[in-house]
Order: sequence, then C-alpha cells, then structure tokens
Amino acid sequence: MNTIEETLRNAPPPTATLADVWRRQPQTGASAPRIRATRPEDFAAIIALQRATYPDIPPWTEAQLAAQVAAFPEGQMVAELDGRVIGASASLVVAWDEYAVDHTWKGITGDGTFRTHDPAGRTLYGAEVVVDRHRRGNGVGRALYQARRQLCQRLNLRRIIAAGRLPGYRDVKDVMSPELYAMRVVWGDIPDPVLRFQLAQGFHYCGVIHNYLPEDAPSCGHAALIVWLNPRYAAPRPAALARKAAA
Ligand SMILES: CC(C)(COP(=O)(O)OP(=O)(O)OC[C@H]1O[C@@H](n2cnc3c(N)ncnc32)[C@H](O)[C@@H]1OP(=O)(O)O)[C@@H](O)C(=O)NCCC(=O)NCCS
Repeated sequence: MNTIEETLRNAPPPTATLADVWRRQPQTGASAPRIRATRPEDFAAIIALQRATYPDIPPWTEAQLAAQVAAFPEGQMVAELDGRVIGASASLVVAWDEYAVDHTWKGITGDGTFRTHDPAGRTLYGAEVVVDRHRRGNGVGRALYQARRQLCQRLNLRRIIAAGRLPGYRDVKDVMSPELYAMRVVWGDIPDPVLRFQLAQGFHYCGVIHNYLPEDAPSCGHAALIVWLNPRYAAPRPAALARKAAA
C-alpha cells in the first residue's frame, strides 16, 4: 500500500493552483451572471445541471424543487447569463441545535422538500450550490455565495452552515481518513474543488460528517462541515431590556 506522501506525489497535478484561480475575472466577453429567485420554469435547467454534475446522485424532482420554493422562496436562487440558467443554489433556515454534528443531508432537508424550514431558526443552511461545469472558475459560484451571505444578513441570521462534498476523497481513501483529507485541503496540500472554494468564500472548516450523503460516491458519503458567521448579526434583546430602552 502506498504511503500518504507517495499517493499525493503520484496524483495528477491540479489543473490550476490557488494563485492561478484567485479572484479571476470573468472570461473576456462574458458578463457577470444575474442572481435571481428560482422560478418553476427554471426547474428543468436545475435538474439538468445536477444530472451532469452528480452522475451517482439522483437529481431533484420537479416536486421537490416546487416544495423548496413554496417553503422558502427567498432561499432558492439561480445564476442566469444570456437568458440561460448556469448555476443554482438552495437554502433553508433551521434551528441548528436540533441537528448539529450528526445530521444527514436527507434529515436536515426533509428529503429535499425543505419541510424542515423553520423561520424561527437562526441558521441559514446551504443545501446545494451547483455551477455549469463549462462555466466554473469564473465567479459564478462566488456570486451565488455572495447572494447567500446577503440573504443571511438581510434576515439577521447568526450564520450560514453547510456540509460540503469532498469529491477528491475516494482517490485517497485507502491511505488517509476523511478528517486528514479535509485538513490537508485546509493546509493547502490538496486542491479539493469544493472545500477549497468554500474556504475562499470565508467559511471555516469544523470537521467531517460521516455518512452525510451515502449516494455521493466520490466523497465516500462524507462531507466537511463548514460555517460562516454573520459579522452584522444582532442578537434579539431580551424583552425587558427592549422595553426599558423604549421607555
Ligand atoms: C464548487 C463550485 C460551486 C464553485 O463554483 P465556481 O463558479 O467554479 O467558483 P468561482 O469561480 O466563483 O470561485 C470562487 C472563488 O473560489 C476560488 N476557487 C474556485 N475553485 C477553486 C479551486 N478548485 N481551488 C481553489 N480555489 C478555487 C476562486 O479562486 C474564487 O476565489 P475569489 O472569490 O477570492 O476570487 C463548482 O465547482 C461546482 O458546481 N462544483 C460541483 C457541484 C458541487 O460539488 N457543489 C458543492 C455542493 S456541497
């Protein structure tokens, strides 16, 4: 069996270093995507994006997408360029203490229906971000994450939490744990395309969730728990204090 160092040495070189892609401008001639609320006529395009990106995971159904929009319309967004949907993101609000470190994708999203959306919660939970693979590396994911951070601030939520896929883990699973894999991404040794991107968006790595999404074969079902804290979050004031201030 190869050692960790041998496996990393023999791995194909990443197509781009972090410096190569850092704050890259949109391609020449390409305009910035417009981020807008998801509409029913976008469902087919979102399903096509998921089908092309995750061959092992069944895409969402139109019924699930409709339920997500009905549960929390502000949390469902697409990136549109030249009239085409080239990316999508889906979020819900949860009472985080009810889920925490042992949750699964299925449990926290109500099997993709967002019936778990709780407007009284203080955590925006990121259930999905996907960008057309021909458009990656041009700031589309960044624009979707920026819109998500703005939503978090507009709703005065404490934080955004998500569990990010670890799509490079399968290739090294015989020589390292998912925890060591994730740490090596944080240290800059492994250019995992998802966790690296999320760290670039200001998220902090919190640990690995095992069996988060068993169908996700490239990640061996595991995911990296990540958090972004809203710096503008204003905790609700106890009623007595608020009354005193108003008097
Ligand atoms: C992850 C994903 C959404 C990123 O979208 P993207 O449009 O390619 O990302 P962007 O071009 O907006 O990159 C944004 C930032 O991340 C950085 N980044 C993106 N990919 C990177 C990589 N592979 N390595 C290092 N940094 C990366 C960019 O430098 C950029 O930094 P900046 O904001 O400081 O300029 C996209 O790769 C994707 O759809 N992946 C498949 C679906 C998936 O697995 N989604 C995650 C579900 S948990």
